[in-house]
Amino acid sequence: MVENRFDTVATDWDKDKRRLELANAISAHLALLPLHVGMRAMEYGCGTGLVGLNLANRLASLVAADSSSGMLEIIKAKIVEMGIKNVFPCLLDLHHDDCDQDFDLIFSAMTLHHLSDIDVILLKFFQCLKPGGILAIADLDEEDGSFHQDNPEGVMHRGFNREKLAGDIRKLGFFSVQVSTAHTILKKNSKGAEMPYSVFLMTAMKEK
Ligand SMILES: C[S@@+](CC[C@H](N)C(=O)[O-])C[C@H]1O[C@@H](n2cnc3c(N)ncnc32)[C@H](O)[C@@H]1O
Repeated sequence: MVENRFDTVATDWDKDKRRLELANAISAHLALLPLHVGMRAMEYGCGTGLVGLNLANRLASLVAADSSSGMLEIIKAKIVEMGIKNVFPCLLDLHHDDCDQDFDLIFSAMTLHHLSDIDVILLKFFQCLKPGGILAIADLDEEDGSFHQDNPEGVMHRGFNREKLAGDIRKLGFFSVQVSTAHTILKKNSKGAEMPYSVFLMTAMKEK
């Protein structure tokens, strides 16, 4: 299989303290959703499981989907090491793969800005959710491109405009769209100045 950008960084992914803080903050916000142990969930762009593995014990099952086999190798090792029985890693890219399951919850953290065709992916999320299912997306607010200045490969969007994304989600048939700030990342720009990059959490429900 051809290596992608994330295959090459998977082994060291969890070594970045800023990433752990962000994942923990997003997890804490997701934990406030009405989760229950009957829920079948999918995390899209699960990476090494920094977010999903925090929530798995509150769910019936979690499909941990990612297009990077390198990332999936890391989460698989954690699942074995931690003796987790309800998380199922899955190599998936919804740009061209179909999702043949239906979920009560789909969540995604810091992945949307790496996706070339958001419309296709959001539609697939909608189709893969059961009526009344919940969608939760955490990603960067609009930024000037400096967030990924050190490694711009595979970055398709300079964050998102909350209103525009909320409108796109509503058009698909989601309702009760809510958005809050989940975290603010402090990161140095090219001039060495510390810049704040806010991360939103948008939640919505599929019509029943
Ligand atoms: C910035 S990382 C975030 C990983 C994890 N959610 C976290 O918070 O640590 C983005 C993840 O999205 C995955 N990804 C990128 N493009 C994807 C696609 N088209 N389909 C599925 N996953 C994708 C990458 O492999 C990577 O694991």
